[in-house]
Order: sequence, then structure tokens, then C-alpha cells
Amino acid sequence: MTTRRNLLKSLGLGTIALTTLSTYSCSSDTQTAEVNSMPTHDDPEYWQKLRKQFMLSDDKVFFNTGTVGVMPRVVVEAVTKHLNYMAADVADWPYKDDSKERFISGYQDLMYIRTKVGKIINCDPKGIALTDNVTNAMSYIANGLDLKEGDEILTSNQEHPGGRCSWEVREKRDGVVLKQIEIPKPIQSPEEVLDIVVKNFTPKTKVLMLSHIISGSGAVLPGKEICAAARERGIFTILDGAQTVGNIRVDIQDLGCDAYVGCFHKWIGAPTGTGFMYVNPNRIKEVWTTVASAQWDNHEDDGYRFTQRGTGNFSILFGLDAALDFYFQVGHENWTDRVKFLGDRLRNGLAENKKVKFFNPADSSMCAGLSVYNIDGFTGEQLQDAYWEKGRMRPRNVGEVFGVRHSTHIFNSSDEIDKAISIVNELSA
Ligand SMILES: Cc1ncc(COP(=O)(O)O)c(C=O)c1O
Repeated sequence: MTTRRNLLKSLGLGTIALTTLSTYSCSSDTQTAEVNSMPTHDDPEYWQKLRKQFMLSDDKVFFNTGTVGVMPRVVVEAVTKHLNYMAADVADWPYKDDSKERFISGYQDLMYIRTKVGKIINCDPKGIALTDNVTNAMSYIANGLDLKEGDEILTSNQEHPGGRCSWEVREKRDGVVLKQIEIPKPIQSPEEVLDIVVKNFTPKTKVLMLSHIISGSGAVLPGKEICAAARERGIFTILDGAQTVGNIRVDIQDLGCDAYVGCFHKWIGAPTGTGFMYVNPNRIKEVWTTVASAQWDNHEDDGYRFTQRGTGNFSILFGLDAALDFYFQVGHENWTDRVKFLGDRLRNGLAENKKVKFFNPADSSMCAGLSVYNIDGFTGEQLQDAYWEKGRMRPRNVGEVFGVRHSTHIFNSSDEIDKAISIVNELSA
């Protein structure tokens, strides 16, 4: 930026150009160039060309989006451009906390971004708060609900600690009862899970918290049916969507849950430290804020209450905004269909090998971009290491028994999937 300023000065354009620079815009020249080089949807080589929008090295293969996603180049550029601006030219900034082009993390309502999120998950952006991740989104809800000793929180034995532990705190602190029901691994059908959940409701059940996609098995739970059954009994429903947005389509209106938490740093390819919490605007007033600043009692825009949590990282918000735009450019269905197509290709290919044991649901309509499997005689660590040695491929070890969790994403190719299948066949021969 400083170099550009000197150049402009040397061209006698200093005053005009500096005025322009003082209005920071998140669309850089390089970003525009990259966006322009996006393939058109009718291009027969669409996915190969889209792969070039990612900076991932060609000599290794990433299969661990379930842990952390990969940022497209435009996202990295948006973050670094803003970081550079903050370091070199922040004095140009005429502090205005109402500017849509300047995301002041932790203070502004960030409605500009929340509206885009609302479009992706189909809900009123006033019910959305931006958070750092799923763990703090869930903590806001767990800490914010009025619950009394003896009230039951129903959850499963397969929840991630980031979704579960804030309820453990309530259990220890306030005497609420955290009931963890057994969900099988693998699950056979949506009806099986629904039946287990419903059987475990009691008159004391006040909250139901379940993963929408279980991280340890990739199972997409029948969220709509489960939430409907809970709602009939007046139970507050929360779905943990850490593994969903960008993996499957999430439609909050259709799901009918009271609350939903998720992140963008896995399947949407945003910078790490970007998450959200949604609470139905009819119920959000019941949730106290945990982290308070000036807007803590703002019930005109409740999502803002939870978004206002003190100074955070401004630059990653520019990255998040770029990631959401990238997602829209690829297109909701195009993106999630591709994730599912590659996941199905992997599972179908591996299913031909009788030595592969799956922990995904048997019903393929309950599977998307996460596959969990092992082969006879291997631990997860051994299988993960063998993948690296033989193919420089990186799925993730998920333990002795369960083997690896293998994520498929839009930057992966059919060839990579086929090569992975051949590695497993070779190892199990
Ligand atoms: C189902 C589930 N819930 C919660 C989390 C925690 O997410 P975060 O690290 O964004 O807080 C994860 C992370 O993998 C997860 O898979």
C-alpha cells in the first residue's frame, strides 16, 4: 500500500489517490481479477478450473475439512490485504462505526455479513449472531437459558466436547441433568434415531441438543423430524451444525429448530475463528447474553447483543465476507451436490472391498462429505500414516477402532478419490 502511495505521489496523483485510499474497500484489484477468472458453470472443466482458485499444493491431497477447511485464494487475499492496511494505513481510517465497508469486529452489528449468512441458512438475520466458533456459540446458549435444578438436557453420547461441555458446566453449577442417550454407530436409518430420541423424552426434558451431522460418524440426523417431536412437548431445540454449512444444505425454516450453531472455518473455507449462533427471534429474548457490552439489552436486534463481544479480529471478517461471496458464486446446490457426489463416490468405491468397515449410516441419504471407516488389522493412526506414505493424502485418524474420517470437498477431484480407494485396496490385499 505504501509503495502504491509513493507511486501515485510520483505521478502527481497523491492528493486524489489518498482520498480514495481513505475509504477502505474489501474488493481489491487482485480479488477482482480472481473473481473474473472463475470458470463459468457450463464449462466442462468447471471443477478442475475451480481447483485453481485454491492455493493448495498439487503434490498432496487434503481430506480433513471436518477439522479445518481450506481458504480459497480470494479469502487469503481479503484477510492479508486488510491486515496490511491495518499495519500501514490505519491512520487513513476516519472512525465510523456505521460503515458497511469497515467491519469492526466485536462492536458493530455486522448486519452486512449476517444478511449473507441468513441467505445461506434461510432465516431472519436478526436471529443470527457472529461468534468466533461453535464452542462459544453453544456456550452463549447453554449459559443464557434460564434453567433450574432437576431440568433435563437431552443429548447424545456422540457429541463433540465443543457442543457438550457448556452443558456439563450447567450440570455441575446449577444441578441441571445432562442425559446422554446412546446413538448407534453406524446408524441404520433416520427412523432409528428419531425413535431413540423420542423414547428418552420425559416431562422434565427442557432442552434437546444434538449434532445435525455427527462429527465422529458423518451421520446427517433427521433434524426436522426430531425438532418437530420435541416442539410438540415444549422442548427447546438446539442443533450443532459445526459440520453442516457448506457440507449439506441447511434450511432453518424447514428444520424448525429453536437454535442452531455453526461455523464457516470448516466447510465454507473462511478463516479460522468464524462461527455463528442462530436463535429463533420468537425465543431469543429468553437467552441472556454471557459476554456483555453496550448492546447487551438490545431487543430490537437480539443477534447484535451476542455479536457485540469486544474487539476481535477485524481482518478475518473481510475473509469471511469473501468466503461467503465465493460460496454464492459457486452456488448453494452446485457446492453441496459436489461434496455429496465425491463422498458417495468414495463410499461406493470402498464398499466393494469387504475388508472395509464403515461407521457412516447404512442409509446413504444420511451421508454427505464425511466418511468414517477402517480396514481389518489397522488402527486409525496406521491407516492415516499409510495414506500419507503411499499417496501424500491427509484424512484424519479418529481412533483405534473407527479408523479414519475422510472429508471430501469441492477442491478434491474424482481422481483423488479413486486413488484413495486403490490405496485402501492395496493395503487390505
Ligand atoms: C459437531 C461439532 N461440534 C462442535 C465442534 C467445535 O467447533 P469449534 O472448534 O468451531 O468450536 C466441532 C469441531 O469439530 C464439531 O465437529
